[in-house]
This record gives sequence, C-alpha cells and structure tokens, in this order.
Amino acid sequence: MSRTEPNDTFGVYLHWPFCLSKCPYCDFNSHVRHAAIDEPRFVRAFAAEIASTAARAPGRTVSTIFFGGGTPSLMQPSTVGAILDEVGKHWTVAPGAEVTLEANPTSVEATRFAGYRAAGVNRVSLGVQSLDDGSLKALGRLHSAREALDAVAIARTAFDRYSFDLIYARPEQTPAQWAAELRLAIAEAAEHLSLYQLTIEPETPFHTLHATGKLVTPDDEMARALYDTTQEICDRAGLPAYEISNHARPGAECRHNLIYWRAHEYAGIGPGAHGRLDVDGYRRAIATEKRPESWLMRVESLGHGVVTDELLSTEERADEFLLMGLRLAEGIDPARYTRVAGKPLDPARIKELAAHGLIESDGKGCLRVTKAGFPVLDAVVADLAA
Ligand SMILES: C[S@@+](CC[C@H](N)C(=O)[O-])C[C@H]1O[C@@H](n2cnc3c(N)ncnc32)[C@H](O)[C@@H]1O
Ligand code: SF4
Repeated sequence: MSRTEPNDTFGVYLHWPFCLSKCPYCDFNSHVRHAAIDEPRFVRAFAAEIASTAARAPGRTVSTIFFGGGTPSLMQPSTVGAILDEVGKHWTVAPGAEVTLEANPTSVEATRFAGYRAAGVNRVSLGVQSLDDGSLKALGRLHSAREALDAVAIARTAFDRYSFDLIYARPEQTPAQWAAELRLAIAEAAEHLSLYQLTIEPETPFHTLHATGKLVTPDDEMARALYDTTQEICDRAGLPAYEISNHARPGAECRHNLIYWRAHEYAGIGPGAHGRLDVDGYRRAIATEKRPESWLMRVESLGHGVVTDELLSTEERADEFLLMGLRLAEGIDPARYTRVAGKPLDPARIKELAAHGLIESDGKGCLRVTKAGFPVLDAVVADLAA
C-alpha cells in the first residue's frame, strides 16, 4: 500500500446539522427541530470530537476551516467563536487561514454576520439558489430574491470574501431566462459563485414528484444548453469554472474545497461529517454518526461520534484522486497519480480520450478534462479509472 505524502494544507470541516425547514430537493444531513437547540451542549461535544481527532492527527497546521450544513448561520456567533477556539487549542491555525461559514440568506441570519466576523469567520457562502421569486417558492425556500440580495449586500460589508450558490437547470428554465438571472447574479458577486445543476436526489420529495411526472426537469439537450450558457457568461465575466460547478476570479478559489479536490488531508467534525486523515502515513476514510442526538450521545459516552474508520486501499485512493482531481480545471499531476496508485495511468486510454477531445495535457505536465469533456466528466473518469 502506498504511503501518503507530506503536504502543508490541512482542512477542518465542521457540520451543523439543523435547518429551519427541509428543502424538497436536498439530501444533505440536515434536520428540522421544533424545540430550541442546546448550543452549549453541542459546543462541548464539538470540543470533545476536535480533541479526539487532534489526538489521531496531531501537530497539523490548519489552513482552512469550513462550517457547513445544514444551516450553520442558525448558530449563535458565540457558538461559532467557541468552536473556533477549540480548533485553535488543539492545532495551530495558520495566520491568514480561510474560515468559511455557509449561511442562508434571510434577514434574521444576516443580522448575525458581524458577530461571525468578530468570532473569526472571514468568508461566507450564501445559499441564494435563485433570483426569481417563483423559482424560490418552487424550491421551497423561505426567502425572497430581494431578501437574498439584501443578505448579499450585508455579507459584502461584513466580509472581504463571500460567495453564493445558485441552482440552475430548474423545471421549465430556458437559456434566455437563465442568462438574465446569471448576469444579475454576476453583478452582485465579487469573486466566487457556485452554480449547481438541479440534481434529483433519491428519497427527496422532488424525487417522488419527478418519478410521477409532476416535476419535469430539462432533458439532456436543454441541460447542455444551460450548462454552455453558464460557461460562456461566466468566462466573459472573468469568473471561469475552476471546478465543474465552481467559478472564481483567479486566486479567489475556495481554498477549503480545493483540499478535497486535490485529495489532501482534512478532519470532519460533527454529525455526519466525513474526513480523510493520514494516520501513521496511511490515508483513512472517517465518518461520524449522522443523527444529531445519537451523535451527541455517542460523543458524550465515547469522546467521538465516529462510526466508520477505514484504511483506504491503494485502488480506492487512486480512484478518489482521479474522481476529485478531474473535476478541477487545473486537472491532475499524472506523476502524483503514479505515486498514489503504484502504477501509471494507462497510456492507451489517455491517447483515446485525447483523440476524442475529452482530455488534454496543459503543457506543464498536468492532465485535464477539456471543455468538451466536462459535460461527460463521469464517463471520462470511469474510463480512465477502469
Ligand atoms: C448544504 S447546502 C448549504 C447551504 C444552506 N443551507 C442553504 O441552503 O442556503 C449547499 C448547497 O448545495 C446545493 N444543493 C443542495 N441540494 C441540491 C440539489 N439537489 N441539486 C443541486 N444543488 C443542490 C444548494 O445550492 C445549496 O446552497
Ligand atoms: S438546501 Fe440548505 S436549507 Fe435547504 S434543507 Fe438543504 S441544507 Fe437545509
């Protein structure tokens, strides 16, 4: 089995598993609770899990921290501050570390932005989803487009860095409508946008509606036209895709997410969090209990909520490296692949995919998916990994 290589990045992901309501398209680990959440109890549990994780991965310098959800902007700023203090007690936090918090763009949550800034957050990622009120309603969102744009304006004053998410390829959406919405979004965006095609996830209300024909999503041809519109407009606006769904001005990429896509090391803390830790030189895949109350009880009795802790085989690591790395416009370093996989990529497959215009060399030794290859990325990865 190949050993992991030293790297100077280390990310900490912290999962806040609660939302005010469940959006009908979403299959993230998020739960609605009608009673108040006991935040001090969660802080104690986060502290315990940070301590137990740091004991397994000691001495790291944290380069990025990411509060994801669920809806982390439901947390009190003091809760966020207390959790950040715990990270700093167990690891060294690099000067200039990127500290992101995902926020829903409602007026109530925006009132907490200054508090998050004071607690140490320096970047927010807002789930705007759409700038069209009818679409927001259809997506089950609790905010209007106006409220979302007001939250973006507050984020702009509170943070040097912010991003927002939009979902496209929505039912009945045309390229012309999407182009107008995207241009409006770009006018409000500073340096980063996440643009996701609507995915119908199993076991969601949208899945049932879709299966019974009550929700009709764009066919492949329309989805492709919407994707092409996205790339064209963002490229022209100086926000090219650096990852299949993420656009940024050069240098403004989300450094935390780059850790995942570049297959570096990160800790996952909180209910349903995933981590990749290098323990004694070998990569481990770690996941915690998903249900918030069960996670709490587990942490309170065992000191951690881990339910999966597996050594990744060479093959699993190599597949993950390809799957994550080829999502990036920069592509992958084939020499690093060889070190991870213990064998090089198959030159015949590379030649064939390149002949079809789906992959290319960047001229500096990296292998990347072409613009024509991105819409069929899954097939390209499957072919290279086979
Ligand atoms: C975990 S959510 C967190 C953000 C925050 N809770 C919110 O909704 O505003 C992260 C993002 O994933 C995207 N997302 C979730 N489910 C999706 C789906 N089925 N299809 C496409 N995008 C999805 C949304 O854009 C969302 O903002
Ligand atoms: S999209 Fe965001 S707010 Fe909606 S259920 Fe998922 S995590 Fe919660």
